[in-house]
Amino acid sequence: MANNNIKNSVFTSFLLHLHPKKVNEQALNYTRTFGLGGINTLLFIILAITGLLLRFSYVPTPVDAYDSILALQYNSLFGVLLRNMHHWSAMLMVITAFLHLLRVFYSTSIYYERKKNWYYGLVLFMIVLAFNFTGYLLPWDQLSYWAVTIMTNILEYFPFIGEDIANIIRGGEMVNSNTLLNFYNFHTAFLPLMFMVFVVLHFWLIRKAKGITVANSDKQNMVNVNPELISKEIFVGLALIASLLLFSMFFDAPLLEKANPMISPNPSKAPWYFMGIQELLINLHPIIATFIIPLSLGLFFYAIPKRSIEKEKVGVWFYSPKGKRIILWSIVFSVVLTILMIILLEYGLQLNELDMLLFISTGLIPLLLYMIPTAIFVFTLWKTMSADKFEIIMAITTMIFVSYMVMSIIGVWFRGEGMLLI
Ligand code: HEM
Ligand code: HEM
Repeated sequence: MANNNIKNSVFTSFLLHLHPKKVNEQALNYTRTFGLGGINTLLFIILAITGLLLRFSYVPTPVDAYDSILALQYNSLFGVLLRNMHHWSAMLMVITAFLHLLRVFYSTSIYYERKKNWYYGLVLFMIVLAFNFTGYLLPWDQLSYWAVTIMTNILEYFPFIGEDIANIIRGGEMVNSNTLLNFYNFHTAFLPLMFMVFVVLHFWLIRKAKGITVANSDKQNMVNVNPELISKEIFVGLALIASLLLFSMFFDAPLLEKANPMISPNPSKAPWYFMGIQELLINLHPIIATFIIPLSLGLFFYAIPKRSIEKEKVGVWFYSPKGKRIILWSIVFSVVLTILMIILLEYGLQLNELDMLLFISTGLIPLLLYMIPTAIFVFTLWKTMSADKFEIIMAITTMIFVSYMVMSIIGVWFRGEGMLLI
């Protein structure tokens, strides 16, 4: 019999060590994982390599940071390409990590022995956001300076300890040289270490669970990892590297003029992945926007895998035949409700001008206006479609994601001067 194995090299041996010898045939279907876990892994490797190279020319001080980026772009061979690769891989990783989160959730792959990986995954997602946020400041241009100022100001609204936390992160009362050094150290030392610790735990748990989840796993054939899986991984990996290179050749990472703490651009916006939070703060009382909603969401995401589902449902995309319909309705409902609420708060209610306790007028009333229709919608799903507990969880999770995405889109594209709707 011909041996079709991909030839052993240092690279393939490395890949083989990450896998068991054989995997379930169904695990090879592209629509099982969309290769997203592997794509995130490769993106981190690309970011670590390009990041280490950027360190050779980057100087983490307010006086020199911006000029060191200019020097990198104009004086070194492939400097622009290097910075573009780092920038676009970082942006892509926010998206692919989020898509991977959606994939494991909607393919009900977070139960039993995979429960812990949901939590490790959430930590990894936070680390990816922290990487992006700390990296954002490093070019020290107007965009990065004011985006970080906005975000650390938002933190100050967190009750009791908000101001202290913001001051610790900034190393003072405003974004300055301490902030830049803090962010640089976090970005290039602490976060890479944390990421590696959690990714090792993540991989180890996947191995312990005998690979990724497949529905009705006992009914499937086992196939050799080499060449069946390895060849696909190499193909996706090469396609990703080629696309990133091509994209980075044609699209430059943004760089405005050097940061000027005296002139704030109008509008001043948070980085796009945090725009949903800024949008919440524009519409709601700070205690609700920075404390009550994030805390409730945190508890909700913690609780998701706590209640197990039946073994036969594990690994089934969208959980049940009704699942897809429930998700579609939840998407439509939350798009409409979120847009209506934002328009109502901007032009209709003008709650902050009412002569009432601010917390009630800009906090509780809008929250109730959102929660009551949502509760009626969930009740209707339960009554008319006989949705069970997981289907209800799926509906609520979908509404959370969709609302956040709608708020981000409105914040990024539909807010102009003074952060007014345009
Ligand atoms: C951002 C860095 C991450 C990396 C590098 C990573 C890597 C991987 C890889 C390679 C796999 C196996 C293949 C696949 O499912 O595509 C996997 C599976 C898994 N990941 Fe992640 N992951 C990351 C983030 C996350 C996040 C944000 C979550 C969810 C909160 C998560 C939860 C899971 C779960 C539950 C599995 C098991 C899926 C199954 O059994 O089918 N991971 N991850
Ligand atoms: C693991 C090792 C890493 C190192 C040593 C590193 C190093 C650096 C350095 C020196 C810069 C400043 C140069 C510049 O702004 O162009 C930078 C910028 C940046 N980094 Fe990293 N980085 C690493 C990983 C990551 C990861 C994993 C992410 C995101 C997931 C990330 C996101 C960013 C972003 C968004 C910027 C700003 C890019 C720009 O617009 O110029 N970095 N990084």
